[in-house]
Amino acid sequence: MTTPLIIDTDPGVDDAFALALAVASPEVELIGVTTVFGNVSLEDTTRNALRLLALLGREDVPVGVGASRPLIHPHPHLSSAHGSDGLSGFAHTLPEATRGPDLRDAVTLMRELLEQADRPVTIVPIGPLTNIALLLAAHPYLKPKIGRLVVMGGGVNGGNVTATAEFNLWSDPEAARRVLVEEDVPTTLVTMDLTRRCAVSAEWLQALAGKSEVNATLVGLTPDYLATYRRFLGWDGMAMHDAVAVAEAVRPGILRATGFPVDVDCSYGPNRGALLVDQRLEVSNPKTLDIALDTDLDGLRQFILDRL
Ligand code: BDR
Ligand code: CA
Repeated sequence: MTTPLIIDTDPGVDDAFALALAVASPEVELIGVTTVFGNVSLEDTTRNALRLLALLGREDVPVGVGASRPLIHPHPHLSSAHGSDGLSGFAHTLPEATRGPDLRDAVTLMRELLEQADRPVTIVPIGPLTNIALLLAAHPYLKPKIGRLVVMGGGVNGGNVTATAEFNLWSDPEAARRVLVEEDVPTTLVTMDLTRRCAVSAEWLQALAGKSEVNATLVGLTPDYLATYRRFLGWDGMAMHDAVAVAEAVRPGILRATGFPVDVDCSYGPNRGALLVDQRLEVSNPKTLDIALDTDLDGLRQFILDRL
C-alpha cells in the first residue's frame, strides 16, 4: 500500500530533485505540495513548484501557497546558493504551468488532505518550518493523522548559513523549535552533516542527464548551485540535501537514525537558528528526536539515480 506524501518546499535546486524523486517513487503517492519562502521569495518558490510539477507531468497535484516570512522575526534576505530565481537563473527553461496554485492556502490544504486521508500521511518539510508550525498550532487534532515528519534541516557539527546554523532552521528558528522540540509528532531530522556526505559528483549529474529529457532539464538547473558547492566541497559536485530526506520518506530506514535530546537556539545572538544536540551519554531528558546520521552513501546515490 502506498504512503500518502505531502512535500512542503522552497524550490530550490535540491528541492527540484526531491520533488522528482517523490514523483518517481511508487512507494509514495504525492497528494500535495505546499510552498514557503526560503531560498527565494514565496512568489518565486511557488512559481518554481508549479513549473517543476508541470515538467514532471504532475499538474494534478495541488500546490498550496504558504508563509511569505518567518513567524516572529523578519527574515533578512541573503544572496542564495540557488541563483537569482532559485533555479540557477534557469526557471524559464521549465514548461510554463497550465494552472495556478490551489485556492486553499498551505495550512488549509494540508488540513483537508490530512482529514481526508485513510492512512497516516508522511510530510516532508524541506524549507523553513513556518507552515508546519502553523499547521500543528492551528489544528493539533490532526497530529495522529501524520505518520511521520521527515525534516531536512539543522547541523550537528556547525551550519552553512552561519557558523552554527543551517539554512532551514535559521530561516525561522521559532517555527523550527515548535516543530522539533515542543511538538510530539514522530519526526526524523535529516541534517546537513549527512546530506553533505551524500553529495553527488558532476559525473553523477551527467549520467542522470543522459537518462531522459526531464532529467537533462533538471540538471540544467544546477550551474549556480554547483558553483557554490564546488567551493564548499572542494570538488566538482553538489549536496542533494532535500532529496536525501525524500529518500528516507520513500524507503524508511534507508538512513540510520539515533535519538538525541535537541533544542533550537531562538536567541538573537550569533547562534540564532542553531540546532543543539545533546550527545552526552547520561541525559535525564527522555524526549529525543531521531537524527539521521549515517547511510550507505554509494547505495543512496545509486538509489536516487535508479529512481530518476
Ligand atoms: C537546505 O537549505 C536550502 O538552501 C536547501 O534547499 C535545503 O533545503 C540546506 O541547508
Ligand atoms: Ca529546500
